[in-house]
Amino acid sequence: MSPVFQPDLLKDKVALITGGGTGICRGIALAFAAHGCDVAITSRKIEHLEPTRDELKARGVRAVAKVADVREPAAVNEAVAAVAAELGGIDILINGAAGNFICLAENLSSNGFGTVVDIDLKGTFNVSKAALPHLKVRGGSVINISATLPYLGTMGQSHAAAAKAGVDSLTRTLACEWGPLGIRVNGIAPGPIDGTEGVKRLTSGKSRASALTQCPLGRLGTVDDIANASLYLASEAASYVNGVTLVVDGGLWLRSARILGE
Ligand code: HXC
Repeated sequence: MSPVFQPDLLKDKVALITGGGTGICRGIALAFAAHGCDVAITSRKIEHLEPTRDELKARGVRAVAKVADVREPAAVNEAVAAVAAELGGIDILINGAAGNFICLAENLSSNGFGTVVDIDLKGTFNVSKAALPHLKVRGGSVINISATLPYLGTMGQSHAAAAKAGVDSLTRTLACEWGPLGIRVNGIAPGPIDGTEGVKRLTSGKSRASALTQCPLGRLGTVDDIANASLYLASEAASYVNGVTLVVDGGLWLRSARILGE
């Protein structure tokens, strides 16, 4: 399956995508470029960015890569200002940079908990705030990538679930504060997406098999599933959608309500 929307859906738009060099956010970047959007990607590591930047350019759009840790407001401000100057503004922001590992709360240090909150939640705040003056200029769209982890008591994920619940809360607050400025703020909560760092880090053979059994659609997600949802939320097709977090997980998180079968 590949992104399904008409070409040029995002023509003349500029998107800034944190964590855009790899995984889900690389997929979003490539899909946006395929629909005519100029794209800037950020990451902590230049080696995660350069191959994707070159792929983006090969799709005929302008593409820039900036190294910035979303935990560092000064570095974020510098990168966002450079992107706006080089690409002539920012219309779409995807907050995708995230960190995670499995650790029971009993074994997790305060710094371990805080590190994930700093990347996922404070990072989303830092980049959104830095991008706001640019998003205001033409009106825009923000998409915060969260997770379904906080919907249930996901063991070993106290840090990431708390951070992602905070991200969903931030989505709703900013939707209200920034809607009057012409900026829609929404979220996407992906389920397990095959081939990504998150699935590599968080699933074993057993939990993968369990997800396949329990998901009503009988499969893991693909990067294109998330890219398609992002295209929708970022485009005019979603012009009256504000403050929602769209779950894209095949119905997997609802598994707790199943009473028939395994
Ligand atoms: C317990 C751990 C740990 C682990 C790190 N820590 N890994 N504790 N178990 N496996 C603790 C460290 O001991 C330290 O605390 C603190 O966390 C900071 O660790 P550092 O390694 O110094 O941090 P840093 O180098 O900044 O790395 C950040 C990171 C790392 C999040 C810890 O894993 C990382 O950079 N990951 C890359 C990105 C990533 O994770 N991508 C996957 C996202 S998946 P102390 O107390 O010792 O100082 C995702 C999807 C979720 O978000 C949804 C899936 C369905």
